[in-house]
Amino acid sequence: MSHIIAPSILAANLAVLGQECEAVLAAGADWIHFDVMDNHYVPNLTFGPMICSALRDYGITAPLDVHLMVEPVDELISTFASAGATYISFHPEASRHVHRSIKLIQDLGCKPGLVLNPATPVSVLEHVAEELEMVLLMSVNPGFGGQKFIRSTLEKIAQTRTYLDQRGLNLRIEVDGGVGIANVAEIARAGADTFVAGSAIFGAQDYTDAIAGMRSQLASLDAA
Ligand code: DX5
Ligand code: ZN
Repeated sequence: MSHIIAPSILAANLAVLGQECEAVLAAGADWIHFDVMDNHYVPNLTFGPMICSALRDYGITAPLDVHLMVEPVDELISTFASAGATYISFHPEASRHVHRSIKLIQDLGCKPGLVLNPATPVSVLEHVAEELEMVLLMSVNPGFGGQKFIRSTLEKIAQTRTYLDQRGLNLRIEVDGGVGIANVAEIARAGADTFVAGSAIFGAQDYTDAIAGMRSQLASLDAA
């Protein structure tokens, strides 16, 4: 599975968001990670589907990796799908009917992901893993960027990869929170292939250097 780098716009200069997305994509990013927070499921408030549409109207064609930290989820699944989302991931604790929410994402033509908080067990994937295209593992508690990577996530990544391999499921494993050049290699070695990075990229002086640095760490794995 190819390595994907998905800068989180949570850390972008939101006053010039279109240009920021253009800049990180030109600097080598693959996707744009879109952290949606409703100040209900998490203690923070960010952006809604209108910003997603605005980026599409501005000309951003790269995959938009929408991470819903909202409750309930189904209404926002529909509005983000209409607004141009590519992946839509949600927290199972935030949906009364997880299988129905996943099917809704599929029926609307988007790729479904399930998000596991640090305390959410891998067993939550039981009965729905076959319907997913991605598992998103939170390596911080959701709500804020710039937090420290929770190291126990490494074991959980390996556990998730084993769980999926045992079922013959070749899904993406995305890791979100405190990811950067210093830890991306060990996160990949543990079994992840998709990396959200907000501060490590948008907080860098040079986006190209930041992304190239992460990619060279990942390339060293392939070489090993
Ligand atoms: C938490 C957010 C952050 C963000 C990445 O709810 O999901 O994890 O995407 O933040 P950094 O890369 O700055 O830790
Ligand atoms: Zn996120």
